[in-house]
Amino acid sequence: MSALLEVSGLAAAYGRARVLFGVDVAVEAGGLMCVMGRNGVGKTTLLNAVMGVLPPTAGKVVFDGEDVTGLPVHERVRRGMGYVPQGHETFPQLTVADNLRVTLEASRHRDGAAIEEALEVFPRLKELLGRRAGFLSGGQQQQLAIARALVTRPRLLILDEPTEGVQPSIVAEIEAAIERLHRERGLAVLLVEQYLELALRLADGFVIIEGGRVCRSGPAADLHDEEVRRLLAV
Ligand SMILES: Nc1ncnc2c1ncn2[C@@H]1O[C@H](COP(=O)(O)OP(=O)(O)OP(=O)(O)O)[C@@H](O)[C@H]1O
Ligand SMILES: [Mg+2]
Repeated sequence: MSALLEVSGLAAAYGRARVLFGVDVAVEAGGLMCVMGRNGVGKTTLLNAVMGVLPPTAGKVVFDGEDVTGLPVHERVRRGMGYVPQGHETFPQLTVADNLRVTLEASRHRDGAAIEEALEVFPRLKELLGRRAGFLSGGQQQQLAIARALVTRPRLLILDEPTEGVQPSIVAEIEAAIERLHRERGLAVLLVEQYLELALRLADGFVIIEGGRVCRSGPAADLHDEEVRRLLAV
């Protein structure tokens, strides 16, 4: 059996500062894997290395059976890896509609229906199509950032703390959207999330990173363990 995404022995560094030391993580087709760990342990670095934003110093990234370790970011996106970086990145000067359109133009399929599909996931955005992204609330920007990734029609959605700094009512909408994408559309998800309750509700499995290494992994049910809570306590 092979997973949709298989990351093995991944190491990464910023100059001489080593941050990741041989991380293994896999996402099954249709699975939802949660990456957890305290601030600064290397979660974002892991996602950046998986996407090729930060070329890894060692290890391998295999997507759908293909070794993509040496490929540039846009080639990974073309193959179906959608990435929503931490901090809800959008084009602040462009309207919501144009944010989605430029992503469509850059996508492999260029099927305009993909914008409609993404808006079905976040109906709130439909009323904001003419507004500049920079004027949206943090939560709305996060929804737009996820919608942009969806426009590329990914097979794997990689999300870095999508609920961070987002108002509670929109956290619930984002959680519901991830759940629907995963359960109804069968989208595979690699989710960095520090909020344990949300991970418990959504994930099939988890890894906990500490000091750039996976220190614990298992099925989501194990997130109830006392040791896990201790590892995540701030
Ligand atoms: N661009 C960079 N240059 C140098 N060091 C960096 C850079 N980005 C992150 N680091 C360092 O690498 C380590 C891991 O950072 P990373 O952002 O991956 O952690 P994280 O687990 O995502 O944290 P958070 O929960 O705060 O988002 C930290 O010590 C951080 O200071
Ligand atoms: Mg981070």
